[in-house]
Amino acid sequence: MDSFSTLLRTASHEQHMEAETSTFMSDLLGGRLGVEAYARYTEQLWFMYEALETGADRLASDPVAGPFVRPELFRLPALERDLEHLRGADWRAGLTALRATRTYADRVAECARVWPAGYVAHHYTRYLGDLSGGQIIRDRAERTWGFAKKGDGVRFYVFEDIGNPAAFKRGYRELLDAIDADELEQQRIVAECKKAFALNTAVFRALGEEFPLSA
Ligand code: HEM
Repeated sequence: MDSFSTLLRTASHEQHMEAETSTFMSDLLGGRLGVEAYARYTEQLWFMYEALETGADRLASDPVAGPFVRPELFRLPALERDLEHLRGADWRAGLTALRATRTYADRVAECARVWPAGYVAHHYTRYLGDLSGGQIIRDRAERTWGFAKKGDGVRFYVFEDIGNPAAFKRGYRELLDAIDADELEQQRIVAECKKAFALNTAVFRALGEEFPLSA
């Protein structure tokens, strides 16, 4: 039987492709969008990580979610530096969540409160993605908008305290495989992971509408 980490990866494979090839992501990776679109996207990330990381303290002692709460993953401080660079010192004043972002962040916060294993599904979907495809996005952003390599504007994608991302991902998959969940609970976690992908895709769709190429 496949390990749980393999199950999660294969179950979300199709939706991963969908997210990757969404109009907004394709345009971003294709260097066809202005820095304003990138800044707006980075603002949305702030709301997502605020939800993921605000609940983290309390979850650190949870038997299921606890092992996943690792300070070297925390993205909020890096996002705040990026936003200061992108929007200026008063970046907080203009910060707004798209409706799709609010829905996503609310779901993450709800899982953090009532269902730690569901929180893990969201944790996996974001952080393992950031450690993987995030590096492709960083490279594109540096080239397209001229940010300093791994510097202000793209710090979100730089995990300063993770020296070997491949090894980290292996360890992360071992944690997933060690989750004490019966088959039904595993299926619920897989479903939540798919939901997490769908919530991400909805944010991309909304961003695509806000930044159509013809504009
Ligand atoms: C254009 C955007 C994206 C690109 C180019 C991309 C690319 C990649 C690549 C190359 C991997 C494989 C890494 C490996 O095998 O170690 C990966 C894994 C992953 N990506 Fe993405 N990705 C993108 C968007 C996303 C999005 C939007 C999400 C979800 C929010 C996501 C979530 C994940 C996850 C969870 C994994 C880990 C799969 C696993 O090994 O279990 N990715 N991505």
